Amino acid sequence: MTQCLVCDHDVEPFLNFGPMPIANGFLAAEQVASEPFADLEVGFCGGCTMVQLTQLVEPEAMFHENYAFFTSSSAWMGRHFAALAADARARWLDGAEDPLVVEIGSNDGTMLGNFQEAGIRHLGIEPSANVAQAAMDRGVETWVRFFGRETADAVVEQHGRADLVLATNVLCHIPDLDGVLAGVSRLLAPGGVLVFEDPYLGDIVEKTSYDQIYDEHVFYFCLGNLKPLLARHGLEIVRAEPQGVHGGSMRYTVAHAGAHPVDPAVEDLLERERLAGLHEPETYVRFRTAVEASRDALVAELERLREAGVRVVGYGATSKSTTVTNYCGITPDLVSSITDTTPTKQGKLSPGAHVPVVPHEDFRADPPEVALLFAWNHQAEIVAKEAQWLADGGRFLVYVPRVGFVDRDAPLAATPQV
Ligand code: TMP
Ligand code: ZN
Repeated sequence: MTQCLVCDHDVEPFLNFGPMPIANGFLAAEQVASEPFADLEVGFCGGCTMVQLTQLVEPEAMFHENYAFFTSSSAWMGRHFAALAADARARWLDGAEDPLVVEIGSNDGTMLGNFQEAGIRHLGIEPSANVAQAAMDRGVETWVRFFGRETADAVVEQHGRADLVLATNVLCHIPDLDGVLAGVSRLLAPGGVLVFEDPYLGDIVEKTSYDQIYDEHVFYFCLGNLKPLLARHGLEIVRAEPQGVHGGSMRYTVAHAGAHPVDPAVEDLLERERLAGLHEPETYVRFRTAVEASRDALVAELERLREAGVRVVGYGATSKSTTVTNYCGITPDLVSSITDTTPTKQGKLSPGAHVPVVPHEDFRADPPEVALLFAWNHQAEIVAKEAQWLADGGRFLVYVPRVGFVDRDAPLAATPQV
């Protein structure tokens, strides 16, 4: 039994995916022999209800000078962040004198670029040197380090307190959430806010999107499991807005307790979470059963296609796909290659399953009959991009919210939107 990273209570494991490689560990053929594996297991804390991994991979093994994920690889995510930046600016910075915006996990500066272009003081904190360099190259001020109490104090000393702290798809990655929230609490000006987004536990359970579970995602948040943790740091959720991105995310706005009125939507969402049973261990036992059924259906479909002689390639060498390929045993006999636009992934093998990652040009030059949409969270963008292939008879196979083909005539109706 492991201890909760948030409250020290025992964590009850509810799903073990077996041995997994590093989710973002795309590798060269000569690295296969030394590829590291560790069990991927997720559990529920009976003390504070936080859903979390029970075994952690060293952060240095995941976020390093060769971190493979560049935010700017998705044009639509760029637009999402521009809209977030515009909304946060209008809502929280209007009238502030020379405000400071700090982003935790600022990646290649896609988000902060919006503030930099508007001449707003900004600072990105990003531990992965290669993506941080891309941000600096475009003029976004960035410190290459992890965020915590010490970094927060150093920012305050050099730049003063922040009016707006941003963190998208990053807080759920940080095992020392306490350290981060203590840092945020010190960093925020009295009326300042933290706006953060992460995949939403409510969506994961509802859509059986088990591929959100991988080594980088230590925590699976909902309003209910964040509330007690934030309260310990004198913080509270003042707004919560569901987002379609990343297969269902929540945008939380957090402030010093009492600093801002709490939007009524917060209580409504908490009530919905109670009705969905997100605070009850039985919910996660049912989730495991649904995950096993999803795996069996996907494997059966891929085997059926193989027997029918249909060529299937993967679309999007996502971190999430590492959970799917390794848990379901999807090796090159079922999916011959994975197309991806990220240059650092191309020419490599997918972690664990060792499916070759190829450039998008290959997909265009030699279109498959079926593409397994690993990047299902970017479905709308990708369906629009591949309209011609679909019109020519190509088909996308998805497994979220259930295993099936994206309907050619109404591609977005029955499936999650971006
Ligand atoms: P993500 O799900 O973590 O955002 O990763 C998306 C991956 O999919 C990333 O490696 C880039 C790739 N991708 C494509 O290859 N083509 C596309 O059109 C999009 C949107 C993403
Ligand atoms: Zn706990």
